[in-house]
Amino acid sequence: MITFEVIEANGAIREVQANEGESLLQATLNAGIDGFAAECGGCCVCATCHCYIDEGDLQKLDAPASDESQMLDFTATERLATSRLACQIKMSPALQGIKVHLPERQY
Ligand code: FES
Repeated sequence: MITFEVIEANGAIREVQANEGESLLQATLNAGIDGFAAECGGCCVCATCHCYIDEGDLQKLDAPASDESQMLDFTATERLATSRLACQIKMSPALQGIKVHLPERQY
């Protein structure tokens, strides 16, 4: 199991467990955490699974693929250098302990 932290928009910190290969989105939804709309179900065509990766953890992730990067232009809250789409992040041991911040809204 891979454990990571989700920091909700209200500041609440939740510890989430993921299986290797599972998406960050799916693991967070399975933990019963609100904050992702995930309208397209993880197909990288809606940008409602926007999240911000903690700056200190950003280098642990591969750079976004071009389709993810294009969709990040359509997020409801500001796109930052730390912005990612949770459905496109596959959990791996390298991501143990990362911190993921949820935006205030997805629309
Ligand atoms: S769930 Fe739609 S882009 Fe991630």
